[in-house]
Amino acid sequence: MRKSISKEIALVLEGYKHISEMAGSAMFIHDTDGWIFDLNKNAEHLTGYTRGELLRMNVRDLHTSIEKKVSNKKLAVISRAKKQVAFESKFKRKNGRVIDVRIKADKFKFKKDFFIIGIVKDITAYKKFGKKRRKKRDMPKHLNDKFSKLLKHLGAKYIEYAHVLVDVAESRDPYTVSHSIKVTNYAVALARYIGLSKEAIEVLKISAILHDIGKIGVKPSILMKPSSLNEEEYKEVRRHPILSAEIIKPIKLMDELVPIIKHHHENYNGTGYPDGLKGEEIPLGARILAIADVYDALTTDRAYRKAYPFGKATKIMTEASGKKFDPVLLKAFMACLRPKKIR
Ligand SMILES: [Fe+2]
Repeated sequence: MRKSISKEIALVLEGYKHISEMAGSAMFIHDTDGWIFDLNKNAEHLTGYTRGELLRMNVRDLHTSIEKKVSNKKLAVISRAKKQVAFESKFKRKNGRVIDVRIKADKFKFKKDFFIIGIVKDITAYKKFGKKRRKKRDMPKHLNDKFSKLLKHLGAKYIEYAHVLVDVAESRDPYTVSHSIKVTNYAVALARYIGLSKEAIEVLKISAILHDIGKIGVKPSILMKPSSLNEEEYKEVRRHPILSAEIIKPIKLMDELVPIIKHHHENYNGTGYPDGLKGEEIPLGARILAIADVYDALTTDRAYRKAYPFGKATKIMTEASGKKFDPVLLKAFMACLRPKKIR
C-alpha cells in the first residue's frame, strides 16, 4: 500500500530532487516496502522507463533477478539502519541491458513516517574496463568526524542536503568539502564572538555548508584551472551565488538562508556581485560568510597558488577592510584569530 506524503515533506523532497538532478545522479524516493513515489529525470535516463512507469513500480523490480534476493535483504537493512547504507547491485534497464550500479540509501523520517532516498550511479564503465573505482569516495576521517559533529547540531530535515552536498562536492571539486567545513567553523566563531543568537548561528551554519553548492553548475575545468581565468570564465564563476540561492529556494523551509548565500560575494564598498549591495544593505550573515570564506581561501593550497601563511593572509584582509569587508566585523574576526583558537 502506498502512503501519501505531507505537504511539508513534499517540499523538502522537491529540493533534494533538484540538487541530485544537478549532481547528475539518479534519485528514487520510495517507502520502506520499496514502492516508488518520486524520482528525478536522471532516474528515467538510467532505467529507460518513463516517470509514469516508474511510479507504478517497486524498486525491487529494477534489480536483475539474481540481485533481487540481495535487494530484498538490503531493503530490510536500510529500513532498520540509522545511517546511510551503500552497496553495489545490477539493474536491468527497460531494453533488457544489464548495468552495474552503486546505491547510497538514506532513511528519512518525518513525523511518524519513514521514507528511503536512494542515489544511484551507473558504474558499468568502471567494472567493464576493470578500472579501480576511485578509492577516495569517503572524506578523510578527521573531516568526517567534524562533519558528523556538525550534523548533530542540524535539524533532521537538513541532514539529507548535507549528504548530497558531500556527494556533489566529492565528484566535482574535492576542495569544496573541506572548504565548506572550515568556512563554517570560522563563521560560527565570529558569530559567537559578536554575540549572535543561537537561532541566527544555526542559520549561518547551514548557509556556510551550502554557500558554494551552486558551483556544481560551473564547469570543473574552470573551477580547477591552474592559471588565471579569462573574462568569460570569470563571468561563469560569478554565477555561483545565484545558482546556490536557486537550489535552496524551492525549499521553503530554507527561506532564511537564501539572502545569506546569495550575497556572500558582495563587497562592503558595493563593488561585489551579484547585486552590488553596499554596507549594511548586505545581510549580516553574508558579511560574516564573506570574511570566513576569503580567510579560508587564502590559507588553503589552491590549483593556482600555494596557501599564504597566517601573517600574509591577515595582512591582505586588513588592507581590504572597508573595501571588501565590513571593518567592524573584520576587526572582530582578527580578534578571534589571535588566540589561535580557530586556526
Ligand atoms: Fe562562493
